[in-house]
Amino acid sequence: MKTRISKAIFPVAGMGTRFLPATKSVPKEIMTLVDRPLIQYAIDEARAAGIKEFIFVTTRGKSALEDYFDQAPELESALRKAGKDDLLEILKTTNMDSGAIAYIRQQRALGLGHAVWCAHRLIGNEPFAVMLPDDVIAAETPCLQQMVEAHAETGGCMVAAMEVPPSKASSYGILDIKDDMGSMVSVKGMVEKPPAGTAPSNLAVIGRYILTPRVMNNLNQIKPSAGGEIQLTDAIAMEVTEGRPVYGYRFRGERFDCGSKAGFLQATVAFGLARPDLRDEFSGYLQQLLSMRDAAQ
Ligand code: UTP
Repeated sequence: MKTRISKAIFPVAGMGTRFLPATKSVPKEIMTLVDRPLIQYAIDEARAAGIKEFIFVTTRGKSALEDYFDQAPELESALRKAGKDDLLEILKTTNMDSGAIAYIRQQRALGLGHAVWCAHRLIGNEPFAVMLPDDVIAAETPCLQQMVEAHAETGGCMVAAMEVPPSKASSYGILDIKDDMGSMVSVKGMVEKPPAGTAPSNLAVIGRYILTPRVMNNLNQIKPSAGGEIQLTDAIAMEVTEGRPVYGYRFRGERFDCGSKAGFLQATVAFGLARPDLRDEFSGYLQQLLSMRDAAQ
């Protein structure tokens, strides 16, 4: 059953309208959580899971993303001359091996499923990961690594899943559970953004997937949904319909929805407080802020 997952697709061709006007010229994935862009968190997580090939599905106006992973000879030589070895070390995390990174264009934003499909020629016949950089996950063992380890035992398709309150279910893809094995569930259906009160469970899919190449064939066949988008959820649900295994994996960790303003702010506070170089000053400031608010009430 052991399959090596060496390729990951990063769909980053969305318009990021929830962050306008910033995203008029700054790709959402380049927005900074403390001092690293969102995409860096996703790349670090992918590397920890053993990913060797990084496929970005981009679009117009995303060149800052390509520059971010390029060499910066002038900057590097200036830092070297100034003896700033610590900063050179930090820059190393943005370096990619030659040939390890590929960019594919999604010409029109036809949905997440379509974005993933755009990479089909680079995937071939192997299982692959999909990572949405908006979902930032703080975890002792990085989320995709947990999933790769679990997937080595199960094969099939696997989606990261987390419990959400019933009132929030209509914002997510929701799993219809066949068997609940604790950290993992087997799935008998999936529904994207179910209308209020119709969700089959409270287990929501978030932006980490391990998929079989058949999902690419399914994406080829499915029709756009009501919103005109090709949904990845529908292509995974087709696997279930055709009798192939799909699992939900309850990852250990905390997920932040950095595609929303509130989630981004929460992540900024959590990651700021987790940083040894910032913790004392930042937590002192937050405490002061809260006590001022309490005093004013
Ligand atoms: P979102 O639904 O969060 O959309 O996409 P968005 O456009 O990025 O942001 P808002 O809602 O306008 O603020 C989820 C993921 O799917 C990618 C996005 O880049 C994001 O990583 N995506 C979405 C594409 O690559 N192409 C699409 O056509 C749609």
